[in-house]
Parts: sequence; C-alpha cells; structure tokens
Amino acid sequence: MGAFRTKPLLSFVTFSAVLSLYFVLSIAGLHRFEQAAKADGSLSFLVVGDWGRRGGYNQTEVAHQMGIVGDKLAIDFVISTGDNFYSNGLTGVDDPAFEESFSQIYTAPSLQKQWYNVLGNHDYRGDVLAQLSPILRKLDSKWLCMRSFIVDSEFVEFFFLDTTPFVDKYFTNPEDDVYDWRGILPREQYISNLLKEFDFALKESTAKWKIVVGHHTIKSAGHHGNTDELVEQVLPILQANNVDLYINGHDHCLEHISSPDSAPLQFLTSGGGSKAWRGGVQWWNPEEMKFYYDGQGFMAVQITRTRVKIAFYDIFGNILHVWGTTKQLQYSST
Ligand SMILES: *[C@@H]1O[C@H](CO)[C@@H](O)[C@H](O)[C@H]1NC(C)=O
Repeated sequence: MGAFRTKPLLSFVTFSAVLSLYFVLSIAGLHRFEQAAKADGSLSFLVVGDWGRRGGYNQTEVAHQMGIVGDKLAIDFVISTGDNFYSNGLTGVDDPAFEESFSQIYTAPSLQKQWYNVLGNHDYRGDVLAQLSPILRKLDSKWLCMRSFIVDSEFVEFFFLDTTPFVDKYFTNPEDDVYDWRGILPREQYISNLLKEFDFALKESTAKWKIVVGHHTIKSAGHHGNTDELVEQVLPILQANNVDLYINGHDHCLEHISSPDSAPLQFLTSGGGSKAWRGGVQWWNPEEMKFYYDGQGFMAVQITRTRVKIAFYDIFGNILHVWGTTKQLQYSST
C-alpha cells in the first residue's frame, strides 16, 4: 500500500519539478546586461533609428551632430531603434555595409560607447543572424544587437523588444519581400513566449524608471501610423507595468505623443537617422501630439533617480523639442 502511494507521489513531485524548471527556463530567456551610471548618479544616451545608408540621406550629418551632442552630454551609450542596414539588412557578417553604414559613419569619439541595437523589419530581409553574430562585435566593439534583451542600470531598466515578428503583413504577403525567419518559427509560440518573458521581467523590475524600446510604432501619426498588433498585445503590458517611455523608430521622423489614456507612458519616435521627409503626416489629436518633425535627427535622454529629460535635435544641432518629468524619491521610515 505504502509503495503504491509513494510512486505516484514521487512522479507527481518529479512532474512538478520539471514543470517549474521549464517555467523558470522559459521565463529566464531574456539576456541581461549591466550598464553603469555616472559617478553623479545620472545616465545619458542618444537614440537614433532607421539609419544604415552608407552616409546618404543626411546619415553623415545626423552622425556628426550626434557626436557633438554626445560629447556635450558625456553620453554613456547609444540606442538604435532598428532598420540598421537598408534596404535588406546585411548579406552576412562579411557584408561591407557594416563598416560603410556603421563603423565609418559614427566615428566621433563620444559615440565610441556601447550601442544597443534592435532589429527592424528591413534587417529581417537580410541574413538576420549576421547582425546578431558575435563576429560583428569583434569587428567593432561598440556594436551589440540582440532580438530581445534587458539593460539594467541602478535606477532604470531598459527592455528591448523584437517587434517585427508581431506584424502580420510580413507573414501574409511573402511575395513582396523575403524575410529571414530563422529563430522565429513557429511564430505563435515565439510571440507568446516573448510576451510572457517580457511581462514577467517588467513585473519583477524594481527600477524607478522603466523604458521599453522596439522598432515598430505603437502610436504614431507618421507614414506607417500605429502598429495594431502592438497596440493589442504590447500596450496593455506597458500600461499594467507602469512603463514610463516607449521608444521606437520605423516612421522616419521625430515624434512625441502623450495620451491621457495611457499616462504616464510617453510615445517617442526617433526614426530620423537617414531617409526622411516623407510628407503626409496623418491627423492626430493636437492635445496628444506634443511634437512632430518630418526630417532627420535624433533624440537625447538624460536621466537621474528623480528626473528624466528628453530633447530632439535636427541635423544642425537645433533643439526642436524638450520634455521632462520628475518622480519623488521614496524614503523609508524604518
Ligand atoms: C538634408 O537635410 C536638410 C536640412 O533639413 C534638408 O533640407 C534636405 O532635404 C535633407 N536631404 C535629404 C536627402 O533628405
């Protein structure tokens, strides 16, 4: 009788252990990097997106101005919101576009910091594994590109999200463009795992500020407009976890939307790294549209435990728009 009872019990214990191990493994999938803050407890960085055109379409001018502003703010790192290499990503790790559109363009001393890159839809049209390869990090140590990952600093946590696999039309119109979906299929499973990991990581986070970075828009009045799949699947997670900033590219413009529906979340587009001036901005509620610029430029962010400040710059170094907010320091009474 005893043996009869312990056996199923044991296998139940084993089963639960395997199940929880599987759960832990499946939610521990996001890579984590540590990013030191400055000695004074602040952090500053630039954000550029949609850039790799061998210097063309003002890419060089944007890079030049990033160098100047990067120096002035003593930036700690750079974020790229994706579409790193036009038009079809990299052909492989030996594609000269890596040097011609990246290493030989962002040459200013202040930009020789860690770059955190996500992939855009154009990057998926090439050899997607090339951009993720450690070989590129050997060619240029400032390069770092992953699909989804976390960068942790003392008081701020950055969540980089691979948004391209969410967008239905890249899967339903395969005749238009060829995408490299290695590592993504089966798609439903990839997305559901990613959303689980992402939600879990945000919930676990005790950071004062939470910043999410993806290639695709959530809210945008630009050419591409909102990305419905992200509005449906990602926005509720951002809202439930009090994310402060969602930063994206994809629309080749500079833009700031702030909606009372989703406060405190700010929607920031920095996709002006090269080709811009598309025209045809769509109507948006003027109370929510804080800023829209159809031309080239980039964004700078300065952040401390209690304050965040963003500024958008054009290629001449003019500040086009600034915005900031504060949070109280929390004191413990014990
Ligand atoms: C480069 O920037 C200038 C200044 O904003 C703009 O007038 C010009 O059209 C841009 N060139 C291209 C190719 O976008």
